[in-house]
Amino acid sequence: MHYDNRPIGVFDSGVGGLTVLKTLSQLLPDESFVYYGDSLHAPYGEKSRQEILTLSKKAVRYLLDKNVKALVLACNTATSTTKAELMRLYPNIPIFGIEPALKPAVKDKHKHILVLATPLTLKLEKFQKFQYQLNQYMEQTTIHVLPCPGLANAIEKDVIAPGRRETEIFLDELLKPYRRVPVDAVVLGCTHYPLIKDSIKKYFNEPEVYDGYTGLGRHLKTTLEHAKKLADNRNTQTITFLSSDQQLVESGLYNQVFDAYDHTEGSFQ
Ligand code: DGL
Repeated sequence: MHYDNRPIGVFDSGVGGLTVLKTLSQLLPDESFVYYGDSLHAPYGEKSRQEILTLSKKAVRYLLDKNVKALVLACNTATSTTKAELMRLYPNIPIFGIEPALKPAVKDKHKHILVLATPLTLKLEKFQKFQYQLNQYMEQTTIHVLPCPGLANAIEKDVIAPGRRETEIFLDELLKPYRRVPVDAVVLGCTHYPLIKDSIKKYFNEPEVYDGYTGLGRHLKTTLEHAKKLADNRNTQTITFLSSDQQLVESGLYNQVFDAYDHTEGSFQ
């Protein structure tokens, strides 16, 4: 039996990818992880494609230096802008990404699906095409697409400096036009948003919330299994938290967010 006990690298623009990491670490309990958040340059969602590519390449090289066996882009924005290019540049390492989980929401036959994501994720051809394809097969479903400029940044800052109330103010303004829409499903197309899942749910009548992380976890597991790169089951899981912002590493903030975030409830204390 072949095993590979090297860690899996997980990357996001900041604290958002910790929500993905939580699910992955529970679905793959024998695997170790190295998390890298680029909080110094967050948010990514309103940057240009070129800027995100430059930052993502730097992050990938940083994680490869940590001897990771696979990479997870735990960021919808980075996935839609750079995944294809990163796969071309680093063909020897499996690269996974995360995309808005619109398909499962449509499959579950909801009537009003609200997709929340960064402006860049929703603007790109990839999402537009996807939405167009799904629209053709739906009769009773309406997809509402809402770009949320500033929301990831507000979450990032609120997490870093607890006590700020920016996120609530942002959310209130953003969701106002949908207050009277009977939204029964919300797709969280940005990995920062599960950190405020509770507040989003409260806005509507307990909608079903989709983030797509379980699917990603299963895909990661089967891919590693086929490549004979799973860690052996005596491997003790370790998780290392790194950031482009040294102060965040020293303060242990990522670690605290990771511990406090309850991914099944989507609440964060
Ligand atoms: N967490 C990221 C995403 O999933 C990016 C948020 C941001 O930096 O704008 O899209």
